Amino acid sequence: MRYSELSNRVSGKGSSVWDDHYLAVARRAAGEDVIVMSVGDPDFNTPVAVTQEAIRSLESGDTHYTEVLGRSRLRKAIAHKIGDINGVSFTENNVVVTAGTQNALYACAALLLDPGDEVLVLEPMFTTYHATIRSTGAEVVTVPCPSDMAYQPDIDILRNSITDKTKAIFFASPANPTGAMITLKNLEIIAEIAIQHDLWLVSDEIYCDFIFDGQHHSISAVDKMKDRTIVVGSLSKSHAMTGWRVGWAIGPESFVNAFSNLNLAITYGLPGFVQEAGAVALEQDLAEVQDMKMEFKHRRDKAVELLCHSSKLQLTSPAAGMFLMVNIESTGLNGLEFSKRLYQEKGVSVLDGAEFGPSGEGFIRISFATSTDSIIEGCKRIVSFADSLNN
Ligand SMILES: Cc1ncc(COP(=O)(O)O)c(C=O)c1O
Repeated sequence: MRYSELSNRVSGKGSSVWDDHYLAVARRAAGEDVIVMSVGDPDFNTPVAVTQEAIRSLESGDTHYTEVLGRSRLRKAIAHKIGDINGVSFTENNVVVTAGTQNALYACAALLLDPGDEVLVLEPMFTTYHATIRSTGAEVVTVPCPSDMAYQPDIDILRNSITDKTKAIFFASPANPTGAMITLKNLEIIAEIAIQHDLWLVSDEIYCDFIFDGQHHSISAVDKMKDRTIVVGSLSKSHAMTGWRVGWAIGPESFVNAFSNLNLAITYGLPGFVQEAGAVALEQDLAEVQDMKMEFKHRRDKAVELLCHSSKLQLTSPAAGMFLMVNIESTGLNGLEFSKRLYQEKGVSVLDGAEFGPSGEGFIRISFATSTDSIIEGCKRIVSFADSLNN
């Protein structure tokens, strides 16, 4: 039996990055001394009010089909919350509820791209972007955001990468893995380019609520960009709700209408009790959310302080998100060799930065989504491993 072309395209770059991570998780579960710093799944519980709303809703029999675009209560809450954060006026008619940011990204690709189209993606980028974009038959054209440019996009390369096949620009700001935010000035330049070449913008803002230094700017708020920008995000990180799969895509009403048809063919609507719980997460100012954010900031500061003890590790403190990129080139190893040996010799699992794009070569990515004690111990082991290498 033969599988489709699409199944080949989604099995390309980025699809095997989690193999070592899952191995580490299994070893830790078996009681071994393994520290998992490879994934961005917050180690906190979902806020109590959210879980209680799901239980209330389930107990009241909310177990039937729901509206394909999502429930009005949740769509309104998303429009209000993200509109406030971004400084843009959205209504529920701009919002589709999705099964997490990933589902929104995939739907954007399906709705905006055709085979042969080219998509500019700022890298280092989240590992699923390749498969998501390539699933449509479109090609990914990467634009570097190198560490020596403070992870800002190389605008000359961006301009020169545009061809008559370019259809869209995808990026995350704040970014995974770098934690960097694209400056307002660069967003304005990207907007000008998008308008000039009539491009869609897919702006992944999953970490917009997870900023420690500075301020979030969304390209949707830049003049004339609201109608060509799709903002995607979710409650996964901000509310420790990765398993609930509550996300969104926010865009012009014509996009929402097209999404409605797509959803009939994909999800056919999402669970009502999950959506009611998601609405509570967005409607209420929950203390747990603020506490978690403060704890992440503390972890970031602690990790940066500890990792700076090794002269073989170079890093800058990430402004946002839950990851840290560490340059390990002075150890004489590349990111893959470093992460493999670190795991084998010290039991610490991190990811090779090159998995996120060429600008990640020579880096490892560390996640703070594990307990503070584990982060302290993990960083000490990373320092001791780096210092043990004779280069
Ligand atoms: C930049 C970025 N986009 C999307 C996702 C997918 O998140 P979700 O759980 O909302 O699907 C992640 C997850 O780590 C991410 O870092």
